[in-house]
Amino acid sequence: MSNLIAAKPSAEILDYLLRRRSVKLDLMTAPGPEPAQIENILRAASRVPDHGRMCPWYFLIFEGDARAKAGEIFQAIYLQKNPEADPAQLDKEAKRFLRAPLVIAMISRTRKGKNPLWEQILSAGAAGMNLSLAAHAQGFGVNWLTEWIAYDADVKAALGLDARDHVAGFFYIGSIQGQPEERDRPDLSSIVTHWHPDVKINKGDLHDQEKMGFPPVGFKSAFLDEP
Ligand SMILES: Cc1cc2nc3c(=O)[nH]c(=O)nc-3n(C[C@H](O)[C@H](O)[C@H](O)COP(=O)(O)O)c2cc1C
Repeated sequence: MSNLIAAKPSAEILDYLLRRRSVKLDLMTAPGPEPAQIENILRAASRVPDHGRMCPWYFLIFEGDARAKAGEIFQAIYLQKNPEADPAQLDKEAKRFLRAPLVIAMISRTRKGKNPLWEQILSAGAAGMNLSLAAHAQGFGVNWLTEWIAYDADVKAALGLDARDHVAGFFYIGSIQGQPEERDRPDLSSIVTHWHPDVKINKGDLHDQEKMGFPPVGFKSAFLDEP
């Protein structure tokens, strides 16, 4: 008999999915997950759909003083690029990873193969969500953030990443103090369509924000075109 689960009714999981929330960093505190709990998080994160078994992601764990060491890198690079930076900002840079007892970086590393890069990137998104859910399911709050440190080439190099690596997220994980508040969720009627040839499709365009612009027709992301 297989121990795999392909379907198993669970009112608890459904309720949880329908009410799940990220946890703001000011509500996050110690303790973080124990080693066995971290392993569960990583096993769940790497147990996601992955077309062609490309393994297009990997994980970096920042615990204990590794968080402060990373902070030294953020601070030094911030100062180099912002020589006029005030001490409060520099302190903030040094403490970035100290905002939670555990930070897991999930890195999207696409591989050469016959399947589209897009699908490998989607697999990283799935890994990120499974990672979050496995942390939540063990009683921890999670916040999936990127911030400038995810996109700065010097920070990435200093952490050991190369040009093929993209930070899909820094997952801040810890115990929760206080109660998260709800935020708006998209109205299903604006994003769901029961398709039929003559039915207008609800594309969620209500949510387009003028200030952010949107890709012109024919847009191709340089990211997706990478070798
Ligand atoms: C790839 C990715 C990167 C994100 N980066 C940030 C970020 O840098 N700063 C931020 O405030 N929220 C960021 N978010 C949003 C938060 O993780 C979170 O989703 C949001 O606050 C809503 O929380 P919810 O999980 O309760 O829906 C990011 C989300 C994703 C998927």
